[in-house]
Amino acid sequence: MEKTTVTMEKIVNLSKARGIIFAGSDIYGGMGNTWDYGPIGVEIKNNIKRAWWQKFVQQSDNSYGIDAAILMNSKVWEASGHTASFSDPKIDCKECKSRFRADTLIENASKSAINVDSMSHEAMEAYIAAHKIKCPVCGKQNFTSIRTFNLMFETARGVTDEGQNKIYLRPETAQGQFVNFLNVQRTTRAKIPFGIAQIGKAFRNEITPGNFIFRSIEFEQMEHQFFCKEGTDTQYYEEYKEKAYQFLLDLGFHKEHLRFKDHDKLAHYAKSACDIQYLFPMGWNELNGIHNRTTFDLMQHQTYSGKNMFYTDAITNEKYIPYVIEYSIGADRLMLAVLCESYYEEVLEGGDIRTVLKLHPALAAYKVAILPLQKNLADKAKEVYKKLAKEFMVTYDDAGSIGKRYRRQDEIGTPFCVTIDFDSLENNTVTVRDRDSMAQIRLDIDALSAYITKSLILK
Ligand code: GAP
Repeated sequence: MEKTTVTMEKIVNLSKARGIIFAGSDIYGGMGNTWDYGPIGVEIKNNIKRAWWQKFVQQSDNSYGIDAAILMNSKVWEASGHTASFSDPKIDCKECKSRFRADTLIENASKSAINVDSMSHEAMEAYIAAHKIKCPVCGKQNFTSIRTFNLMFETARGVTDEGQNKIYLRPETAQGQFVNFLNVQRTTRAKIPFGIAQIGKAFRNEITPGNFIFRSIEFEQMEHQFFCKEGTDTQYYEEYKEKAYQFLLDLGFHKEHLRFKDHDKLAHYAKSACDIQYLFPMGWNELNGIHNRTTFDLMQHQTYSGKNMFYTDAITNEKYIPYVIEYSIGADRLMLAVLCESYYEEVLEGGDIRTVLKLHPALAAYKVAILPLQKNLADKAKEVYKKLAKEFMVTYDDAGSIGKRYRRQDEIGTPFCVTIDFDSLENNTVTVRDRDSMAQIRLDIDALSAYITKSLILK
């Protein structure tokens, strides 16, 4: 079946209508670019995080997980370079006071592909003037000069007004791995090469957040830092590119919706860097990044903390600071890509359109819906519900026609619908309807659990 044209509007509307994602602080008119996950959304996002953890921690014999504090010693951000240079180029319209990222302004206004990454502030200002780029809001052409804008959210720690220290909400989780490198290595007795993974919240005061959960100011990252010896780094960089790509294919992404994009401009510490981009409704955009960060982070923390960050090879007694291959993906951004990738509208016989989320069963909020054909079959239906709920997220629906109930489950991506009918009372069997093919089979109730479990395995 042809893939439906997915628009952001369709995804946002479905999310709001079916309890996937709501606007943050909704009853107060929202809080710009924050999002609350509803009953269906939290399950899908948890399943995405679980799938990532399974692949990059559970199934990896040399990776370890941590959960570091969001609030870190401010020196961490000096060492990492965030205090000095975690910034975007901001530009204001003097007429209507709208604020933009200068690089995005140029990219959106220029008809041909342009490499903004390599432009200085002066070059961007000259480009905006030469190409007579107008303010997208008021249409005037009267901008301020470009200034840097630090993206970190500041807060203060201290119990008296006088004694407050400036601290930051972390803008990435990665520094938690770096500062715990030796703690993890010592306690696990890990030998290089090994990885440290973390899933957690990050915060950025983005100048131009938007596109639903694509770029927000509070989001979750899934980051994996792989520590290896210099000389082996290129090989592991390639390996993580492949692993990151394969993970997306395992979740059900189509190859033609993914592509690698090497960074045109490397950060001063990076030896190589690329993104995997996804074909979002608004076009090709970064889904995740893979970086060879060299020894930069551990060296910086050694300098700023005064603590020795050397690793000692137990066999050769060689001491060195390892290279780091970083693989980083936003859980919310992946959630958006998963929703877009699984969204289908199918024209049924008779002309009705069914909306269906063809999620991998491992990602679906509910694995199975229990639907008694009539309300007086509730006892048997509840019995099946309770049995399966010990193993999976199960939902129960006895309202409306069976067709309408199927449609409701299709919209949230429930892979199986189990119908309890009068034969179920006689012979302990039920009808199992497959979400994607809509084909139905008859199964013994005792065989349901194994049937569902089989579908949940990710490659
Ligand atoms: N530690 C490296 C790092 O943070 P990044 O490219 O800035 O690198 C990694 O972020 C990933 O985090 C991105 O590929 C994206 O998936 C996600 N991400 C970054 N900023 C985001 C935002 N404002 N909203 C949602 N996701 C974001």
